[in-house]
Amino acid sequence: MRHDIVEKNVGLLAVLILVVISLGGLAEIVPLFFQKETTQPVDGLKPLSALELEGRDIYIREGCVGCHSQMIRPFRAETERYGHYSVAGEFVYDHPFLWGSKRTGPDLARVGGRYSDEWHRAHLYNPRDVVPESKMPNYPWLFERTLTGENTADKMRALRSLGVPYTDEQIANATKAVRGEQEITALVAYLQQLGTVLKDTR
Ligand code: HEC
Repeated sequence: MRHDIVEKNVGLLAVLILVVISLGGLAEIVPLFFQKETTQPVDGLKPLSALELEGRDIYIREGCVGCHSQMIRPFRAETERYGHYSVAGEFVYDHPFLWGSKRTGPDLARVGGRYSDEWHRAHLYNPRDVVPESKMPNYPWLFERTLTGENTADKMRALRSLGVPYTDEQIANATKAVRGEQEITALVAYLQQLGTVLKDTR
């Protein structure tokens, strides 16, 4: 009898459908917030240094995430090529995440240490100097611009309020650590630490 009421009232039916679907969603999503492996950093994970943090912001500004993912999926084809698949605990200090989904270029989740700093500098200046068939853009201005470091401490403070364990000392020294550095130096420092905490365990 009461079912008749639901079937004859489209508005009520829609609301009840929504309630049922959200319960399903919540049952899947909420436990993730309490599971240790998705909320705890992997052993040895450290917050980015001031210079690496500035490099990360340059990575975001230049849109690298539009062509490069940072997320190795647990498939053989990916782990053979890039190394150990990505795990949630590697990303707990990332705000926002840069997992990406577009792979015009290779995944960069474990690119740290794969090439020398000189290789990265040459590659970012003109990718075709080192990879002749490359479609990646040139980033020559990264060699001309230098960092002032005026916002670095504020960025670290903001991240600390989100749970990234920066010390007072790191924050106090932030500006000094980056001021006058070329943008390319910061970007390469960022690239060179990517994925190194959980290095290839094949
Ligand atoms: C238009 C797409 C595109 C954009 C934007 C782009 N890349 Fe690339 N990237 C590629 C392609 C394609 C390759 C493969 C060829 C090569 O090595 O140059 C590549 C290769 C790389 C590699 C070598 C990876 C490896 O494992 O061999 C690195 C490092 C890299 N890119 C970093 C960056 C950074 C940092 C930025 C932003 C400043 C960036 N890319 C922006 C397309 C792009």
